Amino acid sequence: MKTRLALVALLACGAAQAADAASSDPHTSGATHFADADDTALVDKGATIYSYNCAGCHGRRLQGQALWQLRDQYLGRRAPPHDSTGHTWQHGDEELFTVVKTGKFSNTPKDIVSYMPAYDGKMSDDEILAVLAFIKAQWPVGIRASQSMLNPGFKGMPKDADKVDWTLPPNCTASFQRWGETSK
Ligand code: HEC
Repeated sequence: MKTRLALVALLACGAAQAADAASSDPHTSGATHFADADDTALVDKGATIYSYNCAGCHGRRLQGQALWQLRDQYLGRRAPPHDSTGHTWQHGDEELFTVVKTGKFSNTPKDIVSYMPAYDGKMSDDEILAVLAFIKAQWPVGIRASQSMLNPGFKGMPKDADKVDWTLPPNCTASFQRWGETSK
């Protein structure tokens, strides 16, 4: 079952997943950070942290900033959504942790300026995991199932993933490859 689910997600979202896999395959790199979206106390804590620190850019309803996909001189400055219309869910927990802590993914070229703040020193590791748990807890089951496949041991796979009907959203190939674009 898991293999079939993984295949579906890889076919649909191969580009994004390959981008993560290129620098750090979570199944072999010893990824250790995991945000537990089923831990309601953690999710509640994360909701407060989100509203004070992240909602201003990423939206109170996780909807992102207007025109976030537009490829113009502001590309990369607008905050993408964290809901299923964005691509946060196309990264495993370790990579999401890295983005919040450092402002960049582990495979982001060093000379790229990111407008995502680095929360290292401003937020503890536990607080970062809480806010990620809150974000993940807002996702529908298909998104959660797909994202969990990017974690070691499919950590975070919803218990009912193989019992309910779900499909991935049609935006899997949404404007994503910002880092790939820079060589053009
Ligand atoms: C000042 C605005 C701003 C704030 C505040 C902010 N972000 Fe961001 N964030 C961004 C921008 C802009 C990007 C896209 C960076 C890029 O593409 O270069 C981003 C990207 C991200 C990503 C990567 C999403 C993806 O799919 O590529 C995550 C995860 C993230 N932010 C989480 C958070 C969290 C959690 C908080 C609060 C603790 C937060 N952000 C606060 C602006 C912000």
